[in-house]
Amino acid sequence: MIDRRGFLNSILAPALAEGATRATSMSPPLASPAMPAWPEDDDPDFWDRIRDQFYIPRTESFFNTGTIGAVPRPVLERVIEDMRTLEATVARWDYSENTPNWISGYSPELPLREKLGKLVNVEGPDIALTQNATFGSSFVAHGLSLKSGDEVILTDREHPGAISAWQERAKLDGIVLKLVPIPTPANDPDKLVDLFGQAITSRTRVLAFPHIISSSAVVLPAKRLTELAHQHGCLSLADGAQALGQIPVDLKDIGCDAYFASPHKWLLAPPGNGMFYIRRDQRDKFQTTLCSFAWDDQSDGMYRFMQYGTGNRSLLTGLDAALDFHFRIGPDRVYKRIRSLADRLRAGLQQIPRAKIGSPVHPELAGATVCHRVDGLPAAKLESELWTKKWVRVRSQGDLVGVRQSCQIYNNEAEIDATLEIVRNLAAHA
Ligand SMILES: Cc1ncc(COP(=O)(O)O)c(C=O)c1O
Repeated sequence: MIDRRGFLNSILAPALAEGATRATSMSPPLASPAMPAWPEDDDPDFWDRIRDQFYIPRTESFFNTGTIGAVPRPVLERVIEDMRTLEATVARWDYSENTPNWISGYSPELPLREKLGKLVNVEGPDIALTQNATFGSSFVAHGLSLKSGDEVILTDREHPGAISAWQERAKLDGIVLKLVPIPTPANDPDKLVDLFGQAITSRTRVLAFPHIISSSAVVLPAKRLTELAHQHGCLSLADGAQALGQIPVDLKDIGCDAYFASPHKWLLAPPGNGMFYIRRDQRDKFQTTLCSFAWDDQSDGMYRFMQYGTGNRSLLTGLDAALDFHFRIGPDRVYKRIRSLADRLRAGLQQIPRAKIGSPVHPELAGATVCHRVDGLPAAKLESELWTKKWVRVRSQGDLVGVRQSCQIYNNEAEIDATLEIVRNLAAHA
């Protein structure tokens, strides 16, 4: 099957050249709004130029990537162009090999799965494209054969999207959920692994844990937890909603049995995209629970987990563009940058006596997200002060951990320093 861009070029370019034909009068305007120039790699203002790639006004500082990432201009423009093109040329879709598929949900999308696979070091067929992390969590919880009394270990800091399907399973089938208490702040990797170890019994079948905890931003030692699970004959299932695009994720190295993620957070893809991986040698332990025609297709790896019916294919184009954007900067370069911003924030907070960091400062457990609070001040108040005083958008995670500040490539040192200034003032007067 030809790709959509090739198809469009083949039908639209000759028509445009000929002038006002029937085809051109129904053709979409293909020109995107002018894109800001892409900086040279050695541009001293590289990150400032990257900031131009986003729609967020310069007067506003967006630190809530943990909820939803800001979609870069070239990514959103490709989605819009794709949707407009679809609407204009849908009559030409004849379901043949000569025209690209106009919807998602009925085709394997292997090139895109390959591209995403490169980011997490697995092959394309090992990945299913879903809609978000919640899809992955539901697939693993409901797709696995478990019986009453079997134990599943999770943490006491799960996002609802990662625990609810297990809770339903407990209600329906009598499986037992055990929640490992994660300290706040967590700064001892060995202790974390021990806590999971203590929870395992002979009835434990699954260790299901977030790669990065949503509320307290702990980067859990996924490889060590996987080794622990395997030593006890258990499956290791990791929720990468906060990890994909924030920290390096190498699924072969981690060795976990399943992994799911939400590329609309840190990978800056448009919402409506998800990633779901099951290790090849464990795949037949999971049946799919969302079915259309290829529900039992065992020939193409994870395709049977992509049977969700008609979907918006332009969103896949957006994921493709978000991957291009990420690879164009370079995953290592992104990680170094966002980690350095978070390190600057952590270092600044540590200089303020009444500021408390609720996320890890231990280098192995810390990522690009910092949770912090001011002693005696409700987290919701800190959130609103940061917004009203400096237009800094963070998100409160409750008074134990404080506000969550996710540092992304659209943030900069001045925004971190503005945050510190507010915190300093509040700490002085709280
Ligand atoms: C750790 C974690 N897991 C799961 C989810 C659910 O993600 P989604 O709503 O994209 O399915 C989130 C969302 O914030 C999360 O942070």
